[in-house]
Amino acid sequence: MALKEWLAVVGEDINVFRLTHPQCGIFKYLYYPDFRAVMIYRLSQLFFNWRITRPLAYLCTMLNDLITGVWIGPRVVAGPGLSLGHPRGLVVNPDTRIGHHCSILQRVTIGGPNVVIGDYVSINGGAAVISNVRGRGCLTVGNHVIIGAGAVVLNDVPDCSVVVGVPGRVVKTITPDDNWFAFTLRYLSKKNEVGNNVIEDTK
Ligand SMILES: CC(C)(COP(=O)(O)OP(=O)(O)OC[C@H]1O[C@@H](n2cnc3c(N)ncnc32)[C@H](O)[C@@H]1OP(=O)(O)O)[C@@H](O)C(=O)NCCC(=O)NCCS
Repeated sequence: MALKEWLAVVGEDINVFRLTHPQCGIFKYLYYPDFRAVMIYRLSQLFFNWRITRPLAYLCTMLNDLITGVWIGPRVVAGPGLSLGHPRGLVVNPDTRIGHHCSILQRVTIGGPNVVIGDYVSINGGAAVISNVRGRGCLTVGNHVIIGAGAVVLNDVPDCSVVVGVPGRVVKTITPDDNWFAFTLRYLSKKNEVGNNVIEDTK
């Protein structure tokens, strides 16, 4: 990843972090582990660019594991606007490709080779996306997908769906307007307008 592209990606990660954590002023960059986890991962990607700095990339991955409990190596491709909420216990296979503006929560496992995750996907607490695909194929999770807490996804997931259960099954379809990011922004802007009890209103 060229330096210019890297800076743009990190800029969007920071934008998303600021949008999703409007509180705490400058203190939030220290307080929330999501910021640390994403930044250390991005740093590892930067160091991975040059052979001479690759050991530093792996050192970053180890540090991330130690500090935040996130195992996401420099070879994982994740688009801009990545959010890793309360990121303890996250494990991501190095061959994984993640789209832009995705949210991945605590205790998620993305395992097996060749998992491709679309844009605006949210993977909730304790879920797993497990691919057994070898060779050229891949397990694809579409765009604007919500994977429920504790779901185990073993097959491709179409765009705009909500998947729950073990093994994961589609229980709903949503519009792109209802993806996690759009929902969060709506929720936060309503909260600013009318106070704290807005969960029902934003649904
Ligand atoms: C996936 C999720 C977003 C779906 O929410 P929703 O769109 O409001 O869906 P509903 O509550 O209408 O549920 C639809 C169906 O899926 C089932 N379902 C929902 N979430 C489920 C889950 N995690 N596991 C198993 N079944 C689930 C419901 O029981 C319901 O089944 P029914 O139609 O047979 O009654 C939500 O349930 C979820 O898992 N959120 C994760 C939250 C999380 O991890 N938070 C961590 C914060 S730290």
